[in-house]
Amino acid sequence: MVKDMIKLENKRLMACAELIMSDGCKDRHAADIGTDHGYLAAYLVQSGICLTAVAADINEKPLESAKRTIAEQGLEGSVTALLSDGLDSVPRGEITHIICAGMGGELIADILSRCEWAKECTLILQPMTKPDELREWLFDHGFAVNRELARRDGRFVYSVMRAKFSPEGVPYEKDELYLNAGLIDPGEEDGAEYIRIAAERLKRAGEGILSADSGSAEGRRRIQVAEKLLSRIGGQL
Ligand SMILES: C[S@@+](CC[C@H](N)C(=O)[O-])C[C@H]1O[C@@H](n2cnc3c(N)ncnc32)[C@H](O)[C@@H]1O
Repeated sequence: MVKDMIKLENKRLMACAELIMSDGCKDRHAADIGTDHGYLAAYLVQSGICLTAVAADINEKPLESAKRTIAEQGLEGSVTALLSDGLDSVPRGEITHIICAGMGGELIADILSRCEWAKECTLILQPMTKPDELREWLFDHGFAVNRELARRDGRFVYSVMRAKFSPEGVPYEKDELYLNAGLIDPGEEDGAEYIRIAAERLKRAGEGILSADSGSAEGRRRIQVAEKLLSRIGGQL
């Protein structure tokens, strides 16, 4: 029996869908890496945002769950469940969008670093940890982040990025690893919260460095960046 259409209630996952839908490309084909229940992959096809999706996971149990979702929704013809470590076993095919959501920033960078054709796709990335390290990896490997949203899930607010390879390279200042949160809208409640938390974390890091070495330029720099971030939400340290 086909169940009701998938409703994505998770704001992180909805933001992934929104970033795909708003990218101006047509005939989209997604690879959702670390798909777990397969809800996002199923939603993308059911809602018409993508024509097909690969729902990939490294573990058998989540993959079984994704297969159940696909069968319950009658999506066997358009969503394929695949056991894969990252993109290693995902055929290049027609994939236009790679999604890595709900994993650590370092793991996402590692998954992308092992896939040569990731450069040909739009990347939708939602790191649960270390967003700054993921941004650094992206910039160092020529991927520009062209849109970024902040979305709350439970107690935390996460970044959701859309990135694309830029053949000219991506020159960047170190501050942008934090200020790329500069693409996040401070007018949205979750955006303002994300910026405030990033600024406080930077300020604490700067103070820690200065307490060990009061003349540290890096310590001062972090506090200055924290102030810049806070000024975007009308706050002060
Ligand atoms: C926390 S769930 C995230 C599910 C969903 N993407 C979301 O954001 O809500 C993380 C999933 O990633 C899978 N995973 C972890 N490492 C992976 C890898 N190297 N390749 C593919 N999947 C992986 C896990 O098995 C798990 O199902």
